[in-house]
Amino acid sequence: MRKNIVAGNWKLNTSYQEGIDLAIEISKLVAESGDKNVEVIVSPPFTHIAEINKVVDNDRISIAGQNCATETSGAFTGEISAEILWSAGADYVILGHSERREYYGETNKLLNIKVKKALEFNLTPIYCVGEVLEEREAGKHFDVIKEQLETVLFDLDADDFSKIVIAYEPVWAIGTGKVASPAQAQEVHKFIRDLLADKFGGAAQNTSILYGGSCKPGNAKEIFANTDVDGGLIGGAALKAEDFLAIINAF
Ligand code: 13P
Repeated sequence: MRKNIVAGNWKLNTSYQEGIDLAIEISKLVAESGDKNVEVIVSPPFTHIAEINKVVDNDRISIAGQNCATETSGAFTGEISAEILWSAGADYVILGHSERREYYGETNKLLNIKVKKALEFNLTPIYCVGEVLEEREAGKHFDVIKEQLETVLFDLDADDFSKIVIAYEPVWAIGTGKVASPAQAQEVHKFIRDLLADKFGGAAQNTSILYGGSCKPGNAKEIFANTDVDGGLIGGAALKAEDFLAIINAF
């Protein structure tokens, strides 16, 4: 079954206490708003995960890491493995975010290893794809996204593929206030689902494909209303509990 998901990517924000307080507030608001047909995920800095896992309602709030290592363990100073994330209480891990690709040189080849490592240790990858402005303007966005999907996901077996969540984040829409139109989002989401269906068959109908990039309370409803948009990966608006809740309630 395809799940509706709203995931908050906190990026490099919140001190320890701010993060714990934000998670508690989100958990409280989500509980008060009653049962909704949507899974809620928060993705705080690594240091906050274990405590957030203790203070939120685990039936309503899942936790994602923002990255994981290609390695399992050993002499890799500064890295966090999928197994450490899982043992601290994470259920998901965001991989391939455009900021990781752009600022830390993460390639499709490396991301293919990370996706498999996450799956090996019971984490569900939220695999991000998306084009930069020049690629869209040159009409190359479908080619870029195709390559990001084929090189990273196409050697997974059917069982592993069934666990993957995709996030389409046009880079030109991230943190810019310039949101993709509902039609642009639907066009790319359908392209992604069709490509996945060519490779993995009917299983692609169950893949959750999230939209990310300047998704706010004021535009979430019209974006989520599209057939192939199954939720959002939210940056700035995920740092305010009430805005985040309003986006969750857009379903
Ligand atoms: P904004 O919602 O701040 O544009 O960020 C989107 C994003 O990058 C989520 O991963």
